[in-house]
Amino acid sequence: MPLNFSTATVGIACPEDAPRLAAIDACSNSHPWGEADFIAAFQAGHLCLTARDDAAEVIGFALGRALPDEAELLLIAVDPERRREGVGRLLLSTLEARLAESGARVMHLEVRASNHAAQRFYAALGYSVSGRRPGYYPAGAHASMREDAILMTRSLAMERTS
Ligand SMILES: CC(C)(COP(=O)(O)OP(=O)(O)OC[C@H]1O[C@@H](n2cnc3c(N)ncnc32)[C@H](O)[C@@H]1OP(=O)(O)O)[C@@H](O)C(=O)NCCC(=O)NCCS
Repeated sequence: MPLNFSTATVGIACPEDAPRLAAIDACSNSHPWGEADFIAAFQAGHLCLTARDDAAEVIGFALGRALPDEAELLLIAVDPERRREGVGRLLLSTLEARLAESGARVMHLEVRASNHAAQRFYAALGYSVSGRRPGYYPAGAHASMREDAILMTRSLAMERTS
């Protein structure tokens, strides 16, 4: 069921969205996913939501996977031209609700230690820091350049209806 919020409508992504998802990720992350990565995620059964504007153009996406009793946010990005309009909040809260309905009780995520904007976004949505993974991310052209991951979690108890 599509969910409308402000000027965005959330729905399930389809393989035809992969080029647009990769384009948004390319201008959002230093090590972006390609089209093939998104197709592989669809084939693996992960849940990918899109936010579309009034013209049905994808302006953001959130990708998560359900684990037994838990869930993991794999990726989230909003078109740079459409940030700070509540699109990320809409995507993540909808993803949380869908994964909670599937039985997840807690959402986990990892974020680059240098990505303070995303950490503030997650904190605003109720996430707390739960740990740190040293050298988790590649951080440059050379393989030896690494960056820590900050681990964050949020209970999904409020999203569960049963
Ligand atoms: C993180 C991201 C998805 C947030 O999407 P968004 O649509 O801009 O977020 P929202 O408008 O829903 O913001 C919700 C709240 O989060 C916080 N927030 C969001 N972006 C923020 C920023 N850059 N700085 C500080 N707080 C921020 C604010 O509290 C905001 O509420 P407010 O605008 O009423 O103050 C977006 O900035 C993005 O695509 N970043 C690049 C990709 C990325 O870093 N992804 C996460 C990788 S782990």
